[in-house]
Amino acid sequence: MTGATGPAVVELRGADKVFSNGMRGLAPIDLCVQPGEFVTLIGPSGCGKSTLLKLIANLIAPTSGELGWWGEGFERVGQPGHQIAFVFQEPTLMPWSRVDTNVRLPLDLDHVSKEQAAPRVDAALANVNLTGFRRHYPRQLSGGMRMRVSIARALVTDPDLLLMDEPFGALDEFTRNRLDDDLLRLSFERKLTTIFVTHSLYEAVFLSTRVIVMAANPGRVFAEFRVDEPEPRGDDFRTSARFAELSRELSKILHAASVAGGAEA
Ligand SMILES: Nc1ncnc2c1ncn2[C@@H]1O[C@H](COP(=O)(O)OP(=O)(O)O)[C@@H](O)[C@H]1O
Ligand SMILES: [Mg+2]
Repeated sequence: MTGATGPAVVELRGADKVFSNGMRGLAPIDLCVQPGEFVTLIGPSGCGKSTLLKLIANLIAPTSGELGWWGEGFERVGQPGHQIAFVFQEPTLMPWSRVDTNVRLPLDLDHVSKEQAAPRVDAALANVNLTGFRRHYPRQLSGGMRMRVSIARALVTDPDLLLMDEPFGALDEFTRNRLDDDLLRLSFERKLTTIFVTHSLYEAVFLSTRVIVMAANPGRVFAEFRVDEPEPRGDDFRTSARFAELSRELSKILHAASVAGGAEA
C-alpha cells in the first residue's frame, strides 16, 4: 500500500492558494498520496478542503509551489494509468437524459464510439447496482440512486485517482452508509486511489487509510491520523469498540483544529 516502488499518485510541494481578492485560501501544503491510499480531508467549513481538491484536480493553479501527478506534470494526466475522475456533492446529472446516457457522457466527450462505450457503461452501472435502471430518468430516482449514477459516470472512465467532494453529505445516514460500503468495495477491487472530502468524522474513520485534518485562517494541514484497520471493512467494523475509540480520538483532533482556526470553543 505504501507504493515505495513507484511514484506518488499526487504530490504537493509547498503548494498554496491566494485568491484574486487577496484572500489566502491555503497556506503552503506538502502532501504525498501513494497508490491505493484512501485519504480523507476533514475540517471546519472554510478551511480549504474544496480548494485543495481543486488544486489536485488541476481545476485551479497554485499561487506558488508545485504539484506532480505520477511523478510528472499534468500533461500526462488522461493517459492510461493516469486518469482522474471528480465526483461533486451534487450529482449534476442531465435531467433530460436517461441514466445510461448520463453515464456515457465522459466517453462521448472523449469521442468513444457508442459500440465501444456500451459495455463500459454496462459495467459501470453494474458496479453501482443500477443495471435495472439504465432507461430511467434522473427524476425517477432517489437521491442515493442519483449519486450512484454520478459515481458510475466517474467509474466509466476507469479512473486511477478518484476525487470526491462531500459526495454523500446530502444523503440520510442509512443511504450514506450503504454508499460508503459500496465505495470501499469498489476502491479495494479496482485498486483506486481516493481523496475524499467529508464533514462526518465517522465516515472518515470508516473509509480512510489516512485522515488529513485541516484548520482554517489560513487553510492548512493541522494533523494526520492513520486508520490501520484491514480491508474489507463493513458493519462489523462500524459497530466495533475499535471504531468508537478511533472516532473519539479523531473527534479530539477535530476540536483542536477548530480552536486553532479561530472557531469558538
Ligand atoms: N474563488 C475564490 N475567491 C475568494 N475566496 C474563495 C474562493 N474560493 C474559496 N474561497 C474562500 O476560501 C476559503 C476556503 O474555501 P473552501 O476550499 O471552499 O473551504 P471548504 O471546502 O473547506 O469549506 C473560504 O473562506 C472561501 O470563502
Ligand atoms: Mg467545500
